[in-house]
Amino acid sequence: MKSFTQKLALTTALVSSIALGAVSAQAEPTAEVLHYWTSGSEAKAVKALKEDFEANGGKWVDAPVAGGGGDAQAAVLRSRVLSGNPPAAVQIKGLSIQEWAEAGALGDLTKLGEEEGWDDVLPPLLQKIVKHDGKYVAVPVNIHRVDWIWANPKSLAKVDGEPPRTWDEFNALADKLQAAGITPLAHGGQPWQDGTVFETVVLGMGGAEFFNKAFIEKDMATIKSDTMKKVFDQMRKMRGYVDDDFSGRDWNLATSMVMRGEAAMQIMGDWAKGEFLAAGKVPGKDFLCVPTPSNGGYILNSDSFAMFNVSSEDDKAGQALLARLILGEKFQETFNLYKGSIPARMGVPTEKFDECAVKSMNDLQSASESGALVGSMAHEIAASGAIRGAILDVVTEHFNSDMTSDVAVERLAEAIELAE
Ligand code: BGC
Repeated sequence: MKSFTQKLALTTALVSSIALGAVSAQAEPTAEVLHYWTSGSEAKAVKALKEDFEANGGKWVDAPVAGGGGDAQAAVLRSRVLSGNPPAAVQIKGLSIQEWAEAGALGDLTKLGEEEGWDDVLPPLLQKIVKHDGKYVAVPVNIHRVDWIWANPKSLAKVDGEPPRTWDEFNALADKLQAAGITPLAHGGQPWQDGTVFETVVLGMGGAEFFNKAFIEKDMATIKSDTMKKVFDQMRKMRGYVDDDFSGRDWNLATSMVMRGEAAMQIMGDWAKGEFLAAGKVPGKDFLCVPTPSNGGYILNSDSFAMFNVSSEDDKAGQALLARLILGEKFQETFNLYKGSIPARMGVPTEKFDECAVKSMNDLQSASESGALVGSMAHEIAASGAIRGAILDVVTEHFNSDMTSDVAVERLAEAIELAE
């Protein structure tokens, strides 16, 4: 015989399952969206997604975690998943998508992808990032290029300077600027920003094959090579080109320094362009976008939303709606115009995109044809979280100390070996 409380529990379960059934018939698409887009331009871009979602009947629960590059957000995500309460949609990318999928934390969007024809509109390169075991587990929002110099033309003009095409030219220009009392490099001393500068130098001095051997194959001879020592020599020079207050500075504040002429250049992905545009600045006139010296290379970063396992019908409906909208042609245009990136979806009209975006599109094409296209290490496309973390630790320690390049490559090798 069942006790009263057992019976009560059964009845409650029955009632709530009936209630859930009733809700599922007319689910209210809901999505808690965890992201780290909190700068001016990023907030505008994410607002465009929120408005699109709401206009299509969705209920958006905003969960922003400030902190460029997403390291702070990654910690929040881990604790939410561990406590069994993941957000419905999360801005993650690259190998992190694969790791969460491997852990069984992501939902399967394959059926939706088939209905929407994603295989036909997404470049194979991005399909590889957002599919796990052949199944769609995330949707890409954009393609960001990492290897850019953002320059203030007025600052360059003060020293009759031209945008540099080699690292020697970069150093010569920076020396001239410094001699004229202008801070050459606007930089924020945070590990992911140090790593961003570092990877552009690795590509520039070593080339694509060297980059991949170091970060993907983790080839020790490459990591300890003379070329890698030269990369650290260049990082030491960079340290001399930043102002005294660089430590801990957010990336968008460094971008503002270039806008205001307080520094001449910033090495940063094209999310920085979003900030220039949000401030009403015009490319080619108020600011210049020049690839970091690399002989036709391209470092690719791509933001995606992964859909975590959720049980309520509202959340599932919210995930499907969000995923569908993200890959829509109109949204891809609107979002990427704010964000500074280029569309993930093929065939989006390019008329509204500025010269920097068009350059990114063309250079992506030619780099992919010539084999000079690489995935970003600092932004988790080429390296897993553990390897990236190990590399950034050494790069940051080197940048903030008087560590020699010989010691730095030894430390890098050790750190990568330990992280494997
Ligand atoms: C992301 C961008 C973001 C930037 C600054 C990058 O890793 O891909 O979307 O704007 O970090 O937070």
